[in-house]
Amino acid sequence: MAENLILYYSRKGENYWSGGLKELKKGNTEIVAEYIQKAVGGDLFEIETVQDYSPSYMTCIEEAKDELRRKARPELKNYLENLDGYDHVFVCGPCWWGTFPMAVFTQLEKLDWTGKKVMAVMTHEGSGLGGSERDLKKICQGATFGKGFAVAGHDAANSEAQVAAWAKSQV
Ligand SMILES: Cc1cc2nc3c(=O)[nH]c(=O)nc-3n(C[C@H](O)[C@H](O)[C@H](O)COP(=O)(O)O)c2cc1C
Repeated sequence: MAENLILYYSRKGENYWSGGLKELKKGNTEIVAEYIQKAVGGDLFEIETVQDYSPSYMTCIEEAKDELRRKARPELKNYLENLDGYDHVFVCGPCWWGTFPMAVFTQLEKLDWTGKKVMAVMTHEGSGLGGSERDLKKICQGATFGKGFAVAGHDAANSEAQVAAWAKSQV
């Protein structure tokens, strides 16, 4: 049976939420990543930075913009060493300035993607998948790509049925 890996980055704290700001105890992407695991099984791996981003949404926006501009690769608390044994990899993250947070790329660039099937999953507040699939294709050399899936962050908690149906169609 094919094995699934769900890699995700998700930021708790103050976030943009349907036109306002809201304090999130659990990040939107984490909710979606857990729905994927529930639907298709597999391992969850959380990408966490050594240095936290600001809990303030407005400050975090600026930090993220600066990292994108510098093509930063922030250091992570733990690194997944390899993809041995996995066939399908769901790469999940919030949309930050149109693509994944730079920390996701820190992890992706350390792995050998040959022969893996990769799916982009993005939570967002209007940008959809943004440039996430384009950027995955650049980094995950040798992989094949499934259909990406975008979830509005403020709808993450209500998205289980759609996420499950989509995830099952990809494995
Ligand atoms: C630094 C930062 C940049 C963001 N940039 C975008 C963006 O370009 N487009 C968009 O639709 N949403 C953007 N958002 C909103 C998030 O993508 C959205 O709230 C997401 O669901 C957060 O997921 P998380 O709780 O898992 O971190 C941004 C949020 C932050 C904190």
